[in-house]
Amino acid sequence: KSVDLHPTEPWMVASLYNGSVCVWNHETQTLVKTFEVCDLPVRVAKFVARKHWVIAGADDMQIRVFNYNTLERAHMFEAHSDYIRCIAVHPTQPYILTSSDDMLIKLWDWDRKWVCGQVFEGHTHYVMQIVINPKDNNQFASASLDRTIKVWQLGSSSPNFTLEGHEKGVNCIDYYSGGDKPYLISGADDRLVKIWDYQNKTCVQTLEGHTQNVSCVSFHPELPIILTGSEDGTVRVWHSSTYRLENTLNYGMERVWCVCGQRGANSVALGYDEGSIIIKLGREEPAMSMDSNGKIMWAKHSEVQQANLKAMGEAEIQDGERLSLAVKDMGSCEIYPQTIQHNPNGRFVVVCGDGEYIIYTAMALRNKSFGSAQEFVWGHDSSEYATRESSSMVKVFKNFKENKYFKPDFGAEGIHGGFLLGVRSVSGLAFYDWENTELVRRIEIQPKHVFWSESGELVCIATEESFFVLRYLAEKVATAQETKEGVTEDGIEDAFEVLGEIQEVVKTGLWVGDCFIYTSSVNRLNYYVGGEIVTVAHLDRTMYLLGYIPKDDRLYLGDKELNIVTYSLLVSVLEYQTAVMRRDFGMADRVLPTIPKEMRTRVAHFLEKQGFMQQALAVSTDSEHRFELALQLGELKIAYQLAVEAESEQKWKQLAELATTKCQFVLAQECLHHAQDYGGLLLLATASGNTTMVGKLAEGAERDGKTNVAFLTYFLQGKLDKCLELLIKTNRLPEAAFLARTYLPSHVSRVVKLWKESLGKVNQKAADALANPTDYSNLFPGLQDAFLAEDYLKETHVRLRPAAEYPLITVSRYTHILGTFLCGDALDRQEWDNIPQATINSLINSM
Ligand SMILES: *[C@@H]1O[C@H](CO)[C@@H](O)[C@H](O)[C@H]1NC(C)=O
Ligand SMILES: *[C@@H]1O[C@H](CO)[C@@H](O)[C@H](O)[C@H]1NC(C)=O
Ligand SMILES: *[C@@H]1O[C@H](CO)[C@@H](O)[C@H](O)[C@H]1NC(C)=O
Ligand SMILES: *[C@@H]1O[C@H](CO)[C@@H](O)[C@H](O)[C@H]1NC(C)=O
Ligand SMILES: *[C@@H]1O[C@H](CO)[C@@H](O)[C@H](O)[C@H]1NC(C)=O
Ligand SMILES: *[C@@H]1O[C@H](CO)[C@@H](O)[C@H](O)[C@H]1NC(C)=O
Repeated sequence: KSVDLHPTEPWMVASLYNGSVCVWNHETQTLVKTFEVCDLPVRVAKFVARKHWVIAGADDMQIRVFNYNTLERAHMFEAHSDYIRCIAVHPTQPYILTSSDDMLIKLWDWDRKWVCGQVFEGHTHYVMQIVINPKDNNQFASASLDRTIKVWQLGSSSPNFTLEGHEKGVNCIDYYSGGDKPYLISGADDRLVKIWDYQNKTCVQTLEGHTQNVSCVSFHPELPIILTGSEDGTVRVWHSSTYRLENTLNYGMERVWCVCGQRGANSVALGYDEGSIIIKLGREEPAMSMDSNGKIMWAKHSEVQQANLKAMGEAEIQDGERLSLAVKDMGSCEIYPQTIQHNPNGRFVVVCGDGEYIIYTAMALRNKSFGSAQEFVWGHDSSEYATRESSSMVKVFKNFKENKYFKPDFGAEGIHGGFLLGVRSVSGLAFYDWENTELVRRIEIQPKHVFWSESGELVCIATEESFFVLRYLAEKVATAQETKEGVTEDGIEDAFEVLGEIQEVVKTGLWVGDCFIYTSSVNRLNYYVGGEIVTVAHLDRTMYLLGYIPKDDRLYLGDKELNIVTYSLLVSVLEYQTAVMRRDFGMADRVLPTIPKEMRTRVAHFLEKQGFMQQALAVSTDSEHRFELALQLGELKIAYQLAVEAESEQKWKQLAELATTKCQFVLAQECLHHAQDYGGLLLLATASGNTTMVGKLAEGAERDGKTNVAFLTYFLQGKLDKCLELLIKTNRLPEAAFLARTYLPSHVSRVVKLWKESLGKVNQKAADALANPTDYSNLFPGLQDAFLAEDYLKETHVRLRPAAEYPLITVSRYTHILGTFLCGDALDRQEWDNIPQATINSLINSM
């Protein structure tokens, strides 16, 4: 029975004949909430966004107010003595107006406990609809089955005047909100739609066409159209100034009951017997264009206005904030502009709409040329443009004169301007030469947009799902055109090279050098360069790129409400990245000094991703990043310097690893020391057989309390005394006792004594159970022999066998010599003399 759109959320509320009120999310097409209002038809439900309410009026004569967040009913009252037909919410005051089959209209004040502030009496039949005048909120109009329309003033209970003319009951009414026309529109059971001038109170137009009762009418709040719905099941779209029938929509969902447009949007909700539909009308994008000097032109309905960024002065500009710009009226346009586009040099603007185009001078908005066209695009050169006449014909102009026209092989569903002329058809996108309209290349793709870089070397083709970046190979094209080689029915095969595909939907875009800047469907402001995506900003709403002004280091964007915002983006960074992409490091080096220090690291990351590590290391100012790069590049000196500055154990460890792989053991040793990595040092010292190092390590480790490493190191060196003292010092007395028992029996007694003392503090009984060999030598058989062995081995057992000696020892050979000798054979004197004394000792010991 009714639909209403929420002003900010993507919601539609529908009130149903079966007594339910449903809130749908029209973006996700899901049911958000349902209110079971009553068993009778609910003929109207409206949002009151500022109170988070849905207000419903039903055939039980009750008005119900729901909070759509909590789903609670905030209020309910009997408003009329018959069915409630309509609710109108006042845009600023805390009022609603209700109309009913009881022939009355009532005003309710929610700030005064929903008191009925006023009753409007005058109609002699059901009051079907009421609307508040958007240009004068004190005035409203009503439509009644008594065949009249009445206009009322808040504060006056009788109508100001009555409009008569319909021959049957009037179902619906709406005010014209755009421009200066004092118009009302009405629809009635006489199947007619009438447009009224409410100042001189005359009917200015009657729209005929519906074949059944007209149930709803609407002046679209943004577009120059009138929408009417009828019990004949159709919605008709009429031009609001010529009154020509533009379109008839029939979705086969039985009778139409309501149509609801929305200010600042092009969605329209339609309510039918069998469901609701949301349609989008016209272009999403505002008619807006900026030239390279920062002059922005836009259309407000058919009025053209200009704002100049240069006139803004030196005021501090914040990223993402609306700019306050002085706006100049340029005059009105003969057509309703759907698009406005500056030509490349900014001297002309073209305005398109209603199947026509007009080219104006940008300065004074004087018309220069015009014609009929479905679409218009500028060429690369400022003197060229093309128009699409129909779905089969494209015309190319030069210096405002028609130069060529042609019928593309597969038709023309759309055209795209830029370095080459793009023509879209069912078979894909075909690029043509502007001069001779010859086919350059056909690509199997269905583009939404085509963006050429200024140099004409790069092009971005954006589709519904992703975008492609291609390089245009002009030289190959020239060669092929000359030699006719590699030319097929799809054009020149080698004309393009694909550089990348990104899974993002581009809404608007532009090139600065080799950087492609764009807004995406998820409201990001990004740029693409060399396969990388850099996010400039997250936008809080849909914005459209207008242009980039290098002098300001700023991007400018506009939204549907014609607000302008800006984001900073340094031209030096873009230039640098462009130079890198072109492998022009001379240029890059010249640009680098202009890049502020704080941006250097970002640039360095870019270089790194492009594989230019050495350059990245030179450019980066972030020590973490530089250290990473130095490691990857094996730049030990730089990495060392950075590790010294950072004093971080982690860095020393990483550097130690690198030094080890590079066989820089001295450096590795130093790094491990800095990193306090004793385990690593031990490994390095033993593996490399550096006695000095092992010695130093033992002392260092003990000093720093790394007792495990210290113990092992002493043990390796055969310094058993040190091992024992270490265990005692660290209170590992049982272990000390066992070590003594094993290697140093002369110390057993002393250690056991210490052990007993210590254990006695916690468990005297256990302490008493420990036997000291001094007192119980009977319990330690062979102890005396052990003492002797210890004494004897003191001299010989501890064998320091530095790796340096290894070349001098070839045990197997000497063993053999010695073996022969022991078996009583004659000793080869000469060989024997060559055996070092240490080896002989050790060989004897080993026997
Ligand atoms: C009314 O109809 C809607 C849509 O068919 C349905 O979701 C809802 O449950 C119905 N309500 C009642 C009270 O039957
Ligand atoms: C409507 O009536 C009010 C109060 O009676 C009056 O002030 C106003 O001028 C009238 N407006 C028109 C358009 O007649
Ligand atoms: C009323 O005004 C409209 C313009 O809005 C004009 O076309 C029409 O002729 C006028 N009618 C009378 C009777 O003055
Ligand atoms: C159109 O309105 C008349 C009342 O004027 C009503 O009797 C008739 O049923 C309506 N037509 C349809 C198709 O509902
Ligand atoms: C172009 O301008 C001339 C004179 O200013 C005017 O007469 C004409 O109607 C205009 N034509 C278009 C299509 O704007
Ligand atoms: C052994 O380590 C010491 C430092 O502990 C170092 O000075 C010396 O150069 C190292 N010797 C070898 C052969 O690497």
